Amino acid sequence: MLTSTSIRVSARVRGFTYAIRNIVAEARKVEATGRKVRYLNIGDPIPFGFHTPPHLIAAVEKAMRDGHNGYTSSVGVEEARTAVADDYTSRGMPVSPDRAIITSGTSEGIELTLGALADAGDEVLVPTPTYPLYTAVLAKLGARAVFYRTDPSNHWQPDLDDVKRLISPATRALVVIDPNNPTGAVYPEATRRALIDLADRANIVLMADEVYGDLAFDGPAPLYGALAPDAPIISYSSLSKAYLAPGWRGGWMAVGRSERLNEVLAAIKKLADGRLCSPGPMQYAVAAALRGDRSHQTSFVRELRLRADLTMARLGQSRDLKCVAPQAAFYVMPQVLLPPGRTDEDFVLGLLRDTGILCVYGSGFGMPADQGFFRVVYLASPDELSAIYDDLVRYARHFVSRA
Ligand SMILES: Cc1ncc(COP(=O)(O)O)c(C=O)c1O
Repeated sequence: MLTSTSIRVSARVRGFTYAIRNIVAEARKVEATGRKVRYLNIGDPIPFGFHTPPHLIAAVEKAMRDGHNGYTSSVGVEEARTAVADDYTSRGMPVSPDRAIITSGTSEGIELTLGALADAGDEVLVPTPTYPLYTAVLAKLGARAVFYRTDPSNHWQPDLDDVKRLISPATRALVVIDPNNPTGAVYPEATRRALIDLADRANIVLMADEVYGDLAFDGPAPLYGALAPDAPIISYSSLSKAYLAPGWRGGWMAVGRSERLNEVLAAIKKLADGRLCSPGPMQYAVAAALRGDRSHQTSFVRELRLRADLTMARLGQSRDLKCVAPQAAFYVMPQVLLPPGRTDEDFVLGLLRDTGILCVYGSGFGMPADQGFFRVVYLASPDELSAIYDDLVRYARHFVSRA
């Protein structure tokens, strides 16, 4: 060895933070002391005993046995793209198969789109709290996430005046996560229409992250693109959440029919060529999912609702916590009444070390660290959750009263 000098990494990596996984390093340290950690940090239903529907597994297995083990075209196999196009069209957003792209999860669709839209210095409007992939990818691109407020005192609805005020000539896209991670909020139709109208008038892309659309407690959320088929809307979803197969990395994006999106679509396809294709056999599960039996969603949503009610009943009792009832998915964003000078990270790390419960601090989702927000994933069984909430409420009392 001629030198032991460490090899330099790019400065962009510094801005690329993804707290949901970064915090696992802390959990490993706690595990090394012999304490069991209860992982409530990642929104993955599989470790909590939920199962991928057998007909999707059969479709992937058949694809492999039938020899579909080579690269596919970079936009994905025809059968999957047609299924996506038919599904969107039947739900009121007319999409032709050449405007449907099969991606490695919702994540890759988001990354391809931001890559196609944002140069260094460009701005993208992102909600706070946000799903952190958006800010991480923008940091990598050297583009700027501009945060618009969603308001916990108004059921975590977006502040439309804030969105309007923040749109500038540098804005390239408006990100809307509805149903929302991390808050569990679902927006009413009037709010959705107002957001679409703002993007439409500013001639920017509305990136509709609809990965939790089928997991709304009051029935599937209507598509943004169905409300305004000619607005510049791109929708993202996947097999990860509503089809219980997050590890497969099977996702899709649907580009609205507006001609204003044609260049963006071409740019996305060009970028997609460079990564060859998303995992091939899993693409064969997309048609099976979108055309097949969806009864698992009814039982999954029933289970989620049960856990959401339990969460509100238990955390709502604590005088140290405030909590807005989620309306979809498996996340809730409580607020601990922080003593002065303490941060959300102090609370979350203290909770981890004292009880083994791993949550993610709100500042990992772009919230101010002194506001005391944190995210809980409530996928564990009701009995397990109940025990977890005993410890959480007890620790919150200890943390707040020690001030
Ligand atoms: C709002 C949101 N968007 C995108 C993703 C990424 O999902 P996928 O597994 O489809 O890439 C997640 C995952 O938790 C999410 O919560």
